[in-house]
Amino acid sequence: MTDSKEQQSKLVTTRDGSHTLYSSEFDQHYHNPNGAVAESKHVFFGQSQLLDDLETSNPVTILEVGFGTGLNLLLLMDYYLDLNSDSTINFYSIEGFPISPQTAENLNYNQHLNHPELANHLSVIFDHLSDGMNEFSLTSNITLHLFNGMFENFNPENLDADYIFQDAFSPDVNPELWTGDTFKKLANFSNGDVILTTYCAASKVQGAMAWAGWKVAKTQGALGKREMIVASLSEEPLAEFKHINEEHYSRRYQEGDFD
Ligand SMILES: C[S@@+](CC[C@H](N)C(=O)[O-])C[C@H]1O[C@@H](n2cnc3c(N)ncnc32)[C@H](O)[C@@H]1O
Repeated sequence: MTDSKEQQSKLVTTRDGSHTLYSSEFDQHYHNPNGAVAESKHVFFGQSQLLDDLETSNPVTILEVGFGTGLNLLLLMDYYLDLNSDSTINFYSIEGFPISPQTAENLNYNQHLNHPELANHLSVIFDHLSDGMNEFSLTSNITLHLFNGMFENFNPENLDADYIFQDAFSPDVNPELWTGDTFKKLANFSNGDVILTTYCAASKVQGAMAWAGWKVAKTQGALGKREMIVASLSEEPLAEFKHINEEHYSRRYQEGDFD
C-alpha cells in the first residue's frame, strides 16, 4: 500500500463520541460507526477471561491482527491500571499500513480512557516505527511487539498467545485475513487454551476456523449485533458458549460451500 491510502484515512466520530478512521482503500471504517470504544470493549474484553487474568497477575500474551489506531492496546492499558494489575503483558500486533503520527495525534481516545495520558503512547509509537518487528517497553511490565508489515510475512519465534484479537477489516474487503490458512497460522502462534475473539460472525469464517482445527462458538455481538465468534483450540475455554458443529462447517468450507 502506498501513502495515498494513509492520506485517504478520514477521521470519523462514532455514536459513543469516540473516533474511528474510514479507509477509502478498503472502503470501510476501522470500527463500528455506532461506537468504536464500545465495540472494542465488548468484543475484546467483555467475552473472555482476559480481565480476570489481569487481576490474578498471570503473565498474558496477546496477538492482535490489525493494529490500526492502537485503540485495543490503549483500552488494555486502561483496564490494567484500573485493576492495579502487575501482570507481565506481551502485546503482539501486526499492521501493514500504519497511520501517520499526525493522524494518531488527532484521535480523541484520551477523552475515553480513565487514564487519558495513555493516549500519548500513540504518537510515540507511530513516530518510531521501522519496517518489520518493533519493540516498545511501554511500562516496566507491558511490552508492545508491533510488526510493521504484512500478515503474510509475520513469522515470530516462540509466540504462544493466550488471547487473539482478530480485528482485520471484514472478510468482504480483507478476505486474505479470514482464510483457513490464516487461522492455521494463528493456531501455530497460540497455546492450547487460547481464546480468539472477533466482531465477525460470518458462516464462511466459522468454516475456515473449523477447517483449521479451531473449536468455534458464538456469543452476543456488540452494539445490537446478534452474534460474534469466540474460538479456542480446546473445548474448555468455550464451556459457557454455544458451539457450532465444527465437522460439518469444516467439510462445507473444504467443499467451497460458502463461496
Ligand atoms: C479494522 S482495522 C484494525 C482496527 C484496530 N484494531 C483499531 O483498534 O484501530 C484493520 C487493520 O488491518 C490492517 N491490514 C489489513 N490487511 C492487512 C494485512 N494483510 N497485513 C497487515 N495488516 C493488514 C489495516 O491496515 C487496518 O489497520
